[in-house]
Amino acid sequence: MSERETWATRAGFILAAVGSAVGLGNIWQFPFKTAQYGGATFLVVYLVAAFGIGLPAMLSEFVIGRKSNLNTISAFERLGYRQWRAAGIVGLLTGFWILSYYSVVGGWVLRYVGGSVTGAYFGDAGAYFGTISAGLPAVALHAVFMALVVGIVAFGIEDGIEKATKLMVPSILVILVALAVWAFTLPGSGPGYAYFLSPDLSQLRLTVGTTGSFPWVTFGGPLAEIIPFAVSQAFFSLSLGMGAMITYASYIDGDESLFGDSVTIVVFNSLIGILAGLVVIPLLFAQGAEPGAGGAGALFVSVASAFATIPFGRVVGFVFFLVVLVAALSSAISLLEVVVSYAVDNYAVSRPQVAAGLGAAIFVLGLPSAWDTAWLTWFDTLAYQLFLPLSVLGILVFTGWVFGRAAVDELLRGTGFGGGMGALWLWTVRTVVLLGVLLTLVLGLITLFGGPDPAIVPPL
Ligand code: TRP
Repeated sequence: MSERETWATRAGFILAAVGSAVGLGNIWQFPFKTAQYGGATFLVVYLVAAFGIGLPAMLSEFVIGRKSNLNTISAFERLGYRQWRAAGIVGLLTGFWILSYYSVVGGWVLRYVGGSVTGAYFGDAGAYFGTISAGLPAVALHAVFMALVVGIVAFGIEDGIEKATKLMVPSILVILVALAVWAFTLPGSGPGYAYFLSPDLSQLRLTVGTTGSFPWVTFGGPLAEIIPFAVSQAFFSLSLGMGAMITYASYIDGDESLFGDSVTIVVFNSLIGILAGLVVIPLLFAQGAEPGAGGAGALFVSVASAFATIPFGRVVGFVFFLVVLVAALSSAISLLEVVVSYAVDNYAVSRPQVAAGLGAAIFVLGLPSAWDTAWLTWFDTLAYQLFLPLSVLGILVFTGWVFGRAAVDELLRGTGFGGGMGALWLWTVRTVVLLGVLLTLVLGLITLFGGPDPAIVPPL
């Protein structure tokens, strides 16, 4: 086995982790899920989940990765818990699953970069989205996007990933701020801010009841619907629950404050999601759209058609979708890297070979989603309501209850914090954080099997 690569600089690691976190999850999914599931109330639950559950879970993944210096499956073995490789495998499969439809949406973005130059979607963005988002055009774009991802991953850590993500974060921030300011000036956008930013606290209700027979426990209140989506959105957006952060942390050599790094990542990621919301949601209101009705098309229909109405719309549209493309690519890279790193660590295969082989497999898995957006919604729903919370639950049980004190020692390395901080972290991971994820999983499964809820299977 050749010498394992490491990050060139600490900033390189943080930027790559931010690059993994910031992606379609922030710019495409977060605004439309927020609009769909209650606006500001969703935002509150999302932020509580990102800092209260996402942050400790990210630290758990960092600890596993840095301590073992290995890919997400072998890591557990090196730490001395062979059976826990199962947790790594669940994560790996989750990543495979997510990347398959992520790439389809990445393909749409690719198409919109070109469409901005030619003005193709300026006439009727809704109709344009309809033609390119399904069937053969979508399959072709899905293939191109996947090929780009494979290309970057094939170059390896320093040359490919680190360079690709350096420019992305600053450019995303600048363009989102500019668009948010512009959205603010639009007539009719006002109520959008109330919807997005002023939570109705009476909505933060979760009731628990019992029934005499299966399913024994029932949940009610708005939170019963919001929690499974908001908490999983935090996982998705922070790239948790599929070994991406384990893998990235495994390339760290040396002592850095994992704590500081993860706070930076969560803050940046939330900021970019909120900025995207400040663009998309006021725009939906300015166009008189029912906020929840846009679904997966919100970004591609409402935001895109707004570009048709502004001066230099083609340039603005081009830059916007280009930035979204880079964000999507840097996240997709991290998803593929997880699996590639496992294969390269364990078998005598070359990075380009594995990247290409796996890229092809993920392409095939994504075919249904590319063919028909109803499949894409189904893949996405299953990821949120089952795979993500299940996978994060496994990581938390492992670090909290199995790895325990050893995890705390690793966490404190390089932080300058005393044992008190470590004990607090361990305690929360073992109790509240774990229970939060368990509740998310249970509520997710109940909504999943509770019959078709029109709010869950949105019209596209
Ligand atoms: N975080 C990315 C986004 O918001 C997507 C992503 C990358 C992801 N790696 C992941 C989601 C791992 C879940 C798990 O777009």
